[in-house]
Amino acid sequence: MRVLVTGAAGMVGSYVETVFGAEELYLTDLDQSDDNVIPLDISDAAAVMQTVQGVEPGVVIHLAGATDVDRCQKEPDWAYAVNATGTQNVAEACEATGALLVYVSTGNVFSGEKDEPYTEFDAPGPGNVYGESKLAGEQIVASRLNRYYIVRAGWMIGGGEKDKKFVGKITRMILEGKTQLKAVDDKFGSPTYACDLLRGISRLLDTGHYGLYHMVNPGAPSRYQIAQSVREVLKRPGVEIEPVPSELFPMPAPRIRMEAMRNCKLELLGFDWMRPWSAALEDYLVHDLVPAVSEAE
Ligand SMILES: NC(=O)c1ccc[n+]([C@@H]2O[C@H](COP(=O)([O-])OP(=O)(O)OC[C@H]3O[C@@H](n4cnc5c(N)ncnc54)[C@H](OP(=O)(O)O)[C@@H]3O)[C@@H](O)[C@H]2O)c1
Repeated sequence: MRVLVTGAAGMVGSYVETVFGAEELYLTDLDQSDDNVIPLDISDAAAVMQTVQGVEPGVVIHLAGATDVDRCQKEPDWAYAVNATGTQNVAEACEATGALLVYVSTGNVFSGEKDEPYTEFDAPGPGNVYGESKLAGEQIVASRLNRYYIVRAGWMIGGGEKDKKFVGKITRMILEGKTQLKAVDDKFGSPTYACDLLRGISRLLDTGHYGLYHMVNPGAPSRYQIAQSVREVLKRPGVEIEPVPSELFPMPAPRIRMEAMRNCKLELLGFDWMRPWSAALEDYLVHDLVPAVSEAE
């Protein structure tokens, strides 16, 4: 299978070779620092069409995105240029070449007002510009193509040495010897190990059941509960973690209260192979993040 990947230099992209290494891979990204990655700006319609027509992939895994939620809020034109128009460019190139499109989206398409995890059958209603622009991307894909997968992921974990997200930060602080930490306990999400996400996408491709899916490591923990799990895996019972309200860390973009999702369609179709979030987190910490951090020291 010939697979073209956009946004391949990002967090999820860092696991593409692990999961899809047996395929004929064409990795693309804005980032031009890696010789294995073809430079491609998805907001350049002509360049996207030319690249996809040149490669003629069977599948395009579209990971490129404006993912800085606060920057999206401050610069909505940037968010829409990448997440909506950029996705349209990728969808049009797939339409022209007959490639199957996999678009990775987010739980930020929801309002966050529900008390339990969202399913694919809940109506979207984004609470920030990032979510609006990703939803616009979903709508373009669904209206333009017959053969596509839209896969909504949760709070992404992964990246190893380059992990600057919550799990990476908390882990580094604990490993550096910090003994008093604060973590927000009034926002809930479903962690999604980027490697599990790509493995899930690989299996989904084999099913031929096109459409919209939630693909998270099931559960709806708060950041506080995730921090407690990190402490447990790292075997540092002496580290005190204080649960705090999110007002303590004001941010430019609103963060929705409930971002967690249920893999309802995978469950109903009988192929929910995603392991619980705590098992995925432990695997990531033990086999990926901690070795990478130790090696970098
Ligand atoms: N991270 C999460 O928590 C999360 C959760 C759910 C869904 N998602 C979705 O999953 C996908 C992958 O996320 P990720 O965590 O791997 O994000 P990431 O680490 O930010 O990677 C995205 C990549 O896309 C690149 N990019 C940005 N603008 C581009 C453009 N115009 N043309 C081509 N490439 C461009 C980025 O380059 P620069 O770094 O140079 O900007 C980056 O290398 C995204 O679509 C995101 O919306 C992410």
